[in-house]
Amino acid sequence: MRSTDRTALMVPTRFRASFAAPGQLLEAVKQLKQEDYRVLDTYTPFPVHGMDEAIGLAPSRLPRACLAFAILGLAIALGVQIWTSAYDYPLIVGGKPLVSLPAFVPVAFELTVLLAGLGVVASLFVVSGMRPKFKVPNLHPGVNDDRFVVAAEIRAGASFAMVCSRMAELGALETELLIDDRLQQSTSILDREATPLAFILAFIPAVLVLAALPLLNRDYLRRNVAWDGGMMEPVAYQSFDSAPFLPNGQVLQTPPKGTLSRNGLAPLPYGPGKAEAERAGRELVNPLQPTQANFSRGKLVYERSCAACHGKDGDNNSSVIVARGLLAPAILVSPMVKNMPDGQIFHVATFGGPQKMKGLGDLISREDRWKVVLYIRELQKGTAPKPAPAAASAPAQSTGVKP
Ligand code: HEC
Repeated sequence: MRSTDRTALMVPTRFRASFAAPGQLLEAVKQLKQEDYRVLDTYTPFPVHGMDEAIGLAPSRLPRACLAFAILGLAIALGVQIWTSAYDYPLIVGGKPLVSLPAFVPVAFELTVLLAGLGVVASLFVVSGMRPKFKVPNLHPGVNDDRFVVAAEIRAGASFAMVCSRMAELGALETELLIDDRLQQSTSILDREATPLAFILAFIPAVLVLAALPLLNRDYLRRNVAWDGGMMEPVAYQSFDSAPFLPNGQVLQTPPKGTLSRNGLAPLPYGPGKAEAERAGRELVNPLQPTQANFSRGKLVYERSCAACHGKDGDNNSSVIVARGLLAPAILVSPMVKNMPDGQIFHVATFGGPQKMKGLGDLISREDRWKVVLYIRELQKGTAPKPAPAAASAPAQSTGVKP
């Protein structure tokens, strides 16, 4: 079917016909195909449905390119994630297996979609030959407006006059022979030179940035950018640096015996236990005055650290451990604790109670524990001791019930 004979180059065999409506064009294309003309292309202001089939174009191959790029994206995403987290730098996070696919889904999804989208657009450009100099042949000034144009080749054995009358029958407004449409295009210097140049220039900033990156980040083991001429680089030794001249070969040393902590307080000269608590009660005096500031701070610390067990008012009401039927704490507003010296309450807050209560000395500062003592004294003044809610009722219920 293709006219490859040389006469085609000399005698113009191509023609164009323009129509006023898309339906007419579609019909004309169908007729031309039926009558064995070779339809080259159609030019329309908007896509005309059914034209692909009428011209006999094969279905687009772009979906296949899309699928290929999607699979590539998925493979890269999974490959990189599995390689980094299972082989290159295996790190167990939250006890999960190294290759936990659900965790890889977001990145895999993103990269699949990204490569599929970019890849299919790039394929479209490559397949349809779109490049900076690309120009659609301007067959008829109306194709961007209200004309529907078909370009075809005159069938062997037919004359241009025959074609004209046939096209007129189908409703063509005009039919013309095409000399070479490409030769009619303007080829100014700008079109030829500047456009590809601009295309290349557009990449220069990106290339510069890429080239500058290795210069900025010279030490690949650190995330610093050396803007500062090394001022972020400490001169002093770091705790975990190696130091061959020190006994254990590293900077960090075990503190010598008897070293005091940096808060400057000597350790309390007491051990845990009831006897020691009573001794503290005899020997220690609250160093703080019952000022409003101390009292407020004591209230805050009490409500955060003691109220869950002892109740907001120190009376075991609103105590969570009583509500669960656990060992009831001492009632802080009871005469027993009222008669306890400050030092003994301080000792219990530090080292714990005689049975179950854990000491809070390493969680609450020494000063804050004294302030809590001040606040408990306030509580004891304000509230008459109320009986604790029945602690024994909760576990008692479980006796009769058996599964
Ligand atoms: C986890 C629950 C819990 C917390 C928190 C708690 N206590 Fe106690 N406390 C108890 C229990 C239970 C007892 C009684 C049994 C014991 O002494 O082990 C008790 C007993 C006491 C006693 C009486 C000690 C004795 O010799 O009979 C004092 C005083 C006391 N707590 C003060 C405090 C202070 C002050 C705080 C906050 C800094 C506090 N507790 C925080 C549970 C707790």
